[in-house]
Amino acid sequence: MTKTAVVTAGTGGIGLETALGLAAAGFAVTVIGRDADRGARAVERINAENPAHPGRFLAADLASLDQVRALAGTLAAEHAASGEPLTVLVNNVGAMFTKRQDIDGLEGSFVVNHLSPYLLTELLLPTLTAGAPSRVVNVTSVSVAVARRVFDEVEPPGGYYAFHWYGRAKLANLAYTLDLAKRLQGTGVSVLAADPGGAATDMTNGTMTNPDIVSPALRLVWPLVRRMFVRATSATAATAARPSITAATDPALAGRTGLVIGSSATPVTPSRAATNPRIVDAVRRLSQTHAPLTTTQANTQHPG
Ligand SMILES: NC(=O)c1ccc[n+]([C@@H]2O[C@H](COP(=O)([O-])OP(=O)(O)OC[C@H]3O[C@@H](n4cnc5c(N)ncnc54)[C@H](OP(=O)(O)O)[C@@H]3O)[C@@H](O)[C@H]2O)c1
Repeated sequence: MTKTAVVTAGTGGIGLETALGLAAAGFAVTVIGRDADRGARAVERINAENPAHPGRFLAADLASLDQVRALAGTLAAEHAASGEPLTVLVNNVGAMFTKRQDIDGLEGSFVVNHLSPYLLTELLLPTLTAGAPSRVVNVTSVSVAVARRVFDEVEPPGGYYAFHWYGRAKLANLAYTLDLAKRLQGTGVSVLAADPGGAATDMTNGTMTNPDIVSPALRLVWPLVRRMFVRATSATAATAARPSITAATDPALAGRTGLVIGSSATPVTPSRAATNPRIVDAVRRLSQTHAPLTTTQANTQHPG
């Protein structure tokens, strides 16, 4: 039986390197992105890595929850029809917006870094369970350490600081990841987080040298912070993909769940905030409210 993997934002940066690693490990890989030319180039590289199991590109803007629902529907229907297991889902999509973005009335970094991967995962759970043993890998970040730990609403009160808002969305996603691992105990679906450390990619290019992304307190020590950012993003995307590839494929992790694979590609202790029951409950409530599984639910919850 062919092992299959889906890598979101898999046509560039860390996601493409993750897709190449999975192809080298024998997976038939589907990469998701927005740009078809970039997708075609990614598939060429994946096919060179694993000619026996060609890769493919599916277009979706993962900032759109409607497109996430449509993508999940396509993938679920295909696996149901072919009987092939969905062995690995790598939720690699992420974004840090220097200026605040509004996406369908919601703050953009929370949508892209948490609600989108949450929704895709929830909608694919029946497929992942049918294909078990299977793994979900959610890509996290050290930025969870600077997150405001207030989850009463999608967006915390106060000014917008991209790095901290990004970290908060990643913290929400990490709390969801560890909560989901508990929920799925005994199903054969393992749920892991992978921290790439840092790499020079489209996402970090230009953003990490802009003091506007951090809070006024950190701006006071900006030269220090900037040096730290430059150092932290100096690795290649291939190096930064190792934690995701390990989380998705390492046989030593078979049957293990609820782990965070750190930037050295070994398990690390998760941030304590991610297992704080108050945060876990609040994130679950926000996710269910703002990323309902069906559009009917979405329309009922947001009439007009
Ligand atoms: N780079 C770092 O230092 C770092 C550090 C910690 C964590 N991370 C995390 O690692 C993951 C990958 O980061 P990266 O730096 O490789 O990011 P990136 O450079 O922005 O990744 C580029 C890829 O993302 C796709 N993409 C971007 N927005 C998309 C959207 N709305 N819908 C679909 N595809 C989208 C692009 O495809 P298209 O151009 O076709 O849309 C392309 O395939 C993210 O979760 C990020 O938060 C990165």
